[in-house]
Amino acid sequence: MSRIALPQYLANASVAPDLQSVILGLAEVSADISKSLAKGALAGILGAAGAENVQGEDQKKLDVIANDMIKEALAALPNVRGLASEEEPDVVPCHTNGNFLVTFDPLDGSSNIDINSMVGTIFSVLPHTGETAVTEQDFLQPGRQQAAAGYVLYGPSVMLVISTGSGVAMFTLDQDSGNYLLTEADVAIPSETNEFSINASNQRHWAAPMQSYIADLIAGKDGPRGKNFNMRWVAAMVADVHRILCRGGLFTYPWDSRKPEQAGKLRLMYEANPMGFLVEQAGGEVWTPEGKILDIQPAHIHQRVPVILGAATEVALCVDYHQR
Ligand code: F6P
Ligand code: MN
Repeated sequence: MSRIALPQYLANASVAPDLQSVILGLAEVSADISKSLAKGALAGILGAAGAENVQGEDQKKLDVIANDMIKEALAALPNVRGLASEEEPDVVPCHTNGNFLVTFDPLDGSSNIDINSMVGTIFSVLPHTGETAVTEQDFLQPGRQQAAAGYVLYGPSVMLVISTGSGVAMFTLDQDSGNYLLTEADVAIPSETNEFSINASNQRHWAAPMQSYIADLIAGKDGPRGKNFNMRWVAAMVADVHRILCRGGLFTYPWDSRKPEQAGKLRLMYEANPMGFLVEQAGGEVWTPEGKILDIQPAHIHQRVPVILGAATEVALCVDYHQR
């Protein structure tokens, strides 16, 4: 069966050529990252880098390698005006004539690296034009304004999932040709579900509404929900959201009292917004307890946010527990 390759898909979808080139650049570097990941211990690239990122988290060697590879690839694209990475303290200006800003999480789920489990790359493309040198301020656009968003899941197969604002498409990397081929054109998240995703070990730290929402799910058939729920947690947002795009479900990383001053664990501009764009484009909902994540006006590039996303009916119910 002949399948549509990524460049053809983007052309058929009438994606602007300058945006196409950014997406194709990200796809190309992700295929290179997947090769490094596949070598694993043989290439001596597992383990800690011995440094902390701007958020005070220990970096893995592969966090640094993936960050450098994406940075270099994007900096070589004339359409990229600037970039911001979870692993970089400041925004990085690129080409003065570029029309796009790219934010990215180079290697999401990096605690999975050393156990040969799933990790990913998440990216968000924002529009930007203007005469002056690019600053952090230029990046602070609500997620609703994204021109494109996507992720690459480095799993048993390598998959690229993207949206340019008209639905969500999934591509699988053909290891023989090195091309991403279309394997799912119209991704849709069912509005109802009986599966949820949360790090349950933090239960005692959650706010009261999240405690009671999850308790009611776990109570199953005998509880107020009157049905049994299944639970899954990969500990890589890319993999957990990928499951939701494939078969539905609710994913949440809520606020918790371990770091009360911190809104949540996940990053608005590198994780919540791009994943939120995909989930909304697939018919799902993406909220904090206060409102829709894609409507948040970011205050700074490394901002964190509590996240509740996935099946529309279930997300609405979870938010309702918080707003009652
Ligand atoms: O990037 C942060 C992240 O690794 C996500 O990919 C994932 O959903 C979450 O943190 C895992 O958190 P925890 O370590 O609490 O399971
Ligand atoms: Mn991450």
